[in-house]
Amino acid sequence: MKIIIDQKDRLYDLAAKEIIKIVNDQPKAVLGLATGSSMIGVYKALVHDFKSNQTTYKDVTTFNLDEYEGISSDNHQSYAYFMNKHFFHYIDINKERTYLPSMKIDCTADYAKIYNDLLNQYELDIQLLGLGRNGHIGFNEPGTSFLSQTHRIQLDAKTRHDNARFFDSIDDVPTHAITMGIQNIMNAKKIVLIATGLNKALAVRDMLEGAVHIDCPASILQEHRDITFFLDQEAASMLSLQKKI
Ligand code: GLP
Repeated sequence: MKIIIDQKDRLYDLAAKEIIKIVNDQPKAVLGLATGSSMIGVYKALVHDFKSNQTTYKDVTTFNLDEYEGISSDNHQSYAYFMNKHFFHYIDINKERTYLPSMKIDCTADYAKIYNDLLNQYELDIQLLGLGRNGHIGFNEPGTSFLSQTHRIQLDAKTRHDNARFFDSIDDVPTHAITMGIQNIMNAKKIVLIATGLNKALAVRDMLEGAVHIDCPASILQEHRDITFFLDQEAASMLSLQKKI
């Protein structure tokens, strides 16, 4: 595992570089994408690179980590909308190969299976990850099995509270979501996680220095064969000195 501690903008650029390298080396790369404020800078760097260097995404396939239940893709709070707004809209990707666990189908539990079956036909060359304040990855809340595949999940009160900032009120935050499972994430050949800000410091410490336990879903990442953690000083502030060097 690699841990990079740097300023936010540098982190976004470095994470974007990992993706650009994969897309340049393998034009048919399969990317696991994420949403959340930690990802905006990465997509900005990718769009900048697309415009400056003409990196092409024409044969790339993408799978997003998660999506809220019960809000349509044209809702401004949906992750589908986020992806278009920050990334897909600006690059030459074929939208038909950008998959999100969206809620177009009524029976959400079945939709998780459909998404999972599709996902398992591919191998993710890289998975981008943010980190929840409670240690979640995707929407895999504490207590989720490390062997989980794509599934429907009830969101933690903490998660709904954290994500309420994007909605008019906490009552508008969906109670459920569909997320790739932890096993799906761990199957990715490479993982890049970005965590910034003091409010992530505890989760970062538990993830990197705590026991590998379902109480902190991200702790399983300690066992991934090719993972880089991109942290700013604040997010890394509770790590022991040994890890910081
Ligand atoms: C949401 C997403 C996660 C993301 C997390 C952190 O809960 N489901 O995938 O990692 O937010 O988001 P942010 O980067 O905005 O702190």
